Amino acid sequence: MAEFSNDKKTIFSGVQPSGNLTIGNYLGAIKNFAEFQDEYNCLYCVVDEHAITVRQNPAELRRRTYETLALYIATGLDPEKNILYVQSHVPCHAELGWILNCYTMFGELSRMTQFKDKSAKNANNINAGLFTYPTLMAADILLYQTDIVPVGVDQKQHLELTRDIAERFNSVYGETFVVPEPYIPKHGAKIASLAEPTKKMSKSDENENAVVRILDSKDAIIRKFKRAVTDSDTCVKYADGKDGINNLLTIYSSFTGKTIEEAEREFEGKGYGDFKLAVGEACADALAPVRAEFDRLIADKAYLEAVMKSNSEQAYRIARKTLSKVQRKLGFTQIR
Ligand code: TYM
Repeated sequence: MAEFSNDKKTIFSGVQPSGNLTIGNYLGAIKNFAEFQDEYNCLYCVVDEHAITVRQNPAELRRRTYETLALYIATGLDPEKNILYVQSHVPCHAELGWILNCYTMFGELSRMTQFKDKSAKNANNINAGLFTYPTLMAADILLYQTDIVPVGVDQKQHLELTRDIAERFNSVYGETFVVPEPYIPKHGAKIASLAEPTKKMSKSDENENAVVRILDSKDAIIRKFKRAVTDSDTCVKYADGKDGINNLLTIYSSFTGKTIEEAEREFEGKGYGDFKLAVGEACADALAPVRAEFDRLIADKAYLEAVMKSNSEQAYRIARKTLSKVQRKLGFTQIR
């Protein structure tokens, strides 16, 4: 069981089981999680309650919840060192989420770009949960007195709001929450769509050629990179206006550990075809061990359920402490 120590800082992050995870999720977030496991108290949550802000097929949601947990472990997160669990198994998230709704302004939520984007994409289902999504996210983070939240760039605005909510609550009721800092990696924090490289790569994109999934086969990965949109130039160079090439260079450098400059030198005088093939191969090779480990884990449902159960109990104990403190400060009567 993961040891939680008061001497260590705490890390929290979450991934929605709302689609098969992409290399954006991997490079922007999950790949970095394992680096923290020895020096921090770490919690990584599969945020199923967030996922239902957009309609989900129940069987698929269930399958992806197991898969996301299996992917956490397959990418190197040890469930004995990290608390890996499912959001709906710890009811404190929804309870604190409600409370924080009362400390978050309508105007603040209206300014969230993810809300605006998702409302545009789901015009027939702009539900209240989609609107208050960021307060539930703030609850996820604040429940564990989190110091650091590793995320991709697209979550930065939600993190800023979380900090504002924490500071507001602390200023009314005295020190209650740790005010968290985002951790956004230097490279890979904003992987773009292969079809429209000015947009972020999104797991719910309907165009399969736009998205590389962590669990795609090697052939599929290479095929998708071959089709990636580039430009009419011929030079593999990172530059303004070359969004497609910039994205591929970022992906290549993130998977190989080479710098952008090293990659540019490697492909000097070579065409886009050779470059795209090399990016596909680097990506497929780096993900091959993750996929193999995933296949092993997903076949062992009993093991995944045992992890869900023991880790959620541990998360609950920590979350419950913060929730009780908040309820006391608010003036809720306590009978236990
Ligand atoms: P989600 O599920 O959309 O994405 C999971 C993580 O992947 C990052 N990410 C990307 N990084 C780089 N390039 C991309 N194209 C890309 N797409 C996604 C996201 O930034 C995220 O770190 N609201 C969150 C889930 C969440 C959460 C939390 C995160 C709920 N509660 C508390 C941190 C802390 C989300 O929708 O992530």
